[in-house]
Amino acid sequence: MVNYNDKVVRQFAIMTVVWGVVGMLVGVVAAAQLAWPELNFGIPWFSYGRLRPLHTNGVIFAFGGTGLIATSLYVVQRTSQARLFGGEGLANFIFWGWQLAMVSAVITLPMGLTTSKEYAELEWPIDILITVVWVAYALAFFGTIGRRAMSHIYVANWFYGAFIIAIALLHVGNSAALPVGWFKSYSAYAGVQDAMVQWWYGHNAVGFLLTAGFLGMMYYFIPKAAGRPIYSYRLSIVHFWALIFTYMWAGPHHLHYTALPDWVQSVGMVFSIILLAPSWGGMINGIMTLSGAWHKLRDDPIIRFLVVSLSFYGMATFEGSLLSIKTMNALSHYTDWTVGHVHAGALGWVGFITMGSLYWMIPRLYGRTSMYSTRAIELHFWMATLGIVLYIAAMWIAGVMQGLMWRAINDDGTLTYAFVEGVKATYPFYVVRLLGGVLYLGGMVIMLWNMFKTMGAGRAVAVPVAPVAPLAAGA
Ligand code: HEM
Ligand code: HEM
Repeated sequence: MVNYNDKVVRQFAIMTVVWGVVGMLVGVVAAAQLAWPELNFGIPWFSYGRLRPLHTNGVIFAFGGTGLIATSLYVVQRTSQARLFGGEGLANFIFWGWQLAMVSAVITLPMGLTTSKEYAELEWPIDILITVVWVAYALAFFGTIGRRAMSHIYVANWFYGAFIIAIALLHVGNSAALPVGWFKSYSAYAGVQDAMVQWWYGHNAVGFLLTAGFLGMMYYFIPKAAGRPIYSYRLSIVHFWALIFTYMWAGPHHLHYTALPDWVQSVGMVFSIILLAPSWGGMINGIMTLSGAWHKLRDDPIIRFLVVSLSFYGMATFEGSLLSIKTMNALSHYTDWTVGHVHAGALGWVGFITMGSLYWMIPRLYGRTSMYSTRAIELHFWMATLGIVLYIAAMWIAGVMQGLMWRAINDDGTLTYAFVEGVKATYPFYVVRLLGGVLYLGGMVIMLWNMFKTMGAGRAVAVPVAPVAPLAAGA
């Protein structure tokens, strides 16, 4: 029996839920400010322009990143049958170093300290801290794989490993800058190269953090929760190589109709369309893992979170490939359709797969058979699902409406609508989006409560615990 290091997993798991509540709360405030701009209160650090990057950093890195570290450290130990490499010291360093970086973001972004690069806003001292912590994390993860008790490396670890390596590359590459003071630096790149490097980073942050890392979660927690092996181990390997090869080239779809050479834009578009194949291949592999166990969807809310996350993954990737086609992008770019696409992926895929995985993992980390309240998980699921539907439907309608209003012209060639008319027409949809966000956040608060109850006075209740299944036919 291997003595796993679960202390660090517990720490990261708790902070995932805490950061989730914080990041989404900031998202809700930002959404309210878009509906009622007076909610800026004239206070600079509370202004929309500063809260928006706080939200994106909070949900992507603090919620998503922390969840990925939590689950990867849990999965790598179990699938390697080895204790975490590096001992307590390294584990503590990773945990506290990562929290320090996240807290630094919470302090500096509202102060207006930013590089102005989307999703890479943090200034250089924090970037260096993140780099050092990331190297320590990579050491712990790959060191544990090096210690594994079998020759086989389970496919979830391939995805987690690709996420760790790619994020290191992207972070260092895109953050290269010339510091001119403790809190100010200038990018090492200029003009269109800067834009290209930025979206090579931005899109691969989607590809490797918001996608590959969470696919690592999918490949471990769906078979575990379903009590069945992965549908096809061979497909998972094809999925892996096809996905990581294709993602790297798709970044230019963020720069359609810009100063970027036209052929580069077309390369981005073509690779984005090809990307649909590995994306759906992976989704199908996850969903088919449930074949023969569909009844579990009816009475196990954890499985429901996991499977619905895959449906949103399929939807967001289909939509992404569509939006990358230049003629479609001419309509959608700069509109709220992009924001709807982002949140179909972020709330539906990233959020749900994380919640499902944590609901499965947390009781086991505390020696319990299930979460404190299954009903609370049910309630969370339905509130969050309704929240997503309201959020993305509002953004789709608003986005298409904006795109059509902006391009409408009169017979004499003048614009039919002034820009501000589009803004005015969007307000009702911003209120609906806010409502969706409040529901989604409410579900997250319920999860926080359920987690603390499970940690404290947990009791053995309803949810049947899936038998531990072999992970894959080949494992
Ligand atoms: C309660 C839930 C949430 C609410 C209310 C919310 C709200 C918002 C708002 C108002 C914006 C700004 C949109 C704009 O500038 O027009 C935004 C942007 C963004 N949010 Fe969220 N959000 C939530 C959850 C999440 C989660 C969980 C993630 C990721 C895991 C996420 C990722 C993002 C990203 C990447 C952007 C930038 C989008 C872009 O540039 O197109 N959000 N969100
Ligand atoms: C096959 C997969 C995907 C493709 C081809 C794709 C494609 C696209 C395209 C074309 C845009 C709009 C660019 C623009 O007009 O500015 C976009 C934006 C975005 N997508 Fe996707 N997408 C995919 C999957 C996903 C997933 C699963 C997520 C989230 C989990 C996601 C997150 C984002 C974000 C955050 C942005 C906004 C970037 C920004 O402007 O700030 N995408 N994507």
